[in-house]
Amino acid sequence: MKRFVHLNYNIDKEYWRDLFYERLNEGQWNDSCPRKKTLHWYQIFFHPGTELRKLVEPVERDLNIDGLDTFPRFSYMFPGAVLPIHKDEDGLIGININILDDVPAPVIHIKGQAFPYEAALIDVGNIQHSVKAVPHHRLILKFCLRYPYADIYKRIESTGLICPTT
Ligand SMILES: [Fe+2]
Repeated sequence: MKRFVHLNYNIDKEYWRDLFYERLNEGQWNDSCPRKKTLHWYQIFFHPGTELRKLVEPVERDLNIDGLDTFPRFSYMFPGAVLPIHKDEDGLIGININILDDVPAPVIHIKGQAFPYEAALIDVGNIQHSVKAVPHHRLILKFCLRYPYADIYKRIESTGLICPTT
């Protein structure tokens, strides 16, 4: 079972991007910003019980992860933002969906290899990964799941969305 797989998932990027910019004031700087004293990473969390949280449910249904704790959020990284090599806390699984179309696709680096993606399932809690500086911004819709990777993989595999060539 591969720890990084592309998903053949087409999202309405403009819809999600508009939502992000409409709700800019509902977000917060990532915890690493005050620590590093840089403004490199901004997030808007889809808190339980909010309208935003309901709006993301169709995406969860498409991916067959509805009903799970998926901790959805917008994640915006500024041009030049860097994340050094790390594993995410709690054995986290990430589902990252690019919602920009004016810049090259976001890239995650795993074991020295660059993986550009539009939508991907990534075992970020168990594999070392990093983000290198690029001259453009990055905006993704992201789900963070704390479940066994194999279970989430199987759930998404059943939808047929896992790209067979990854
Ligand atoms: Fe990470």
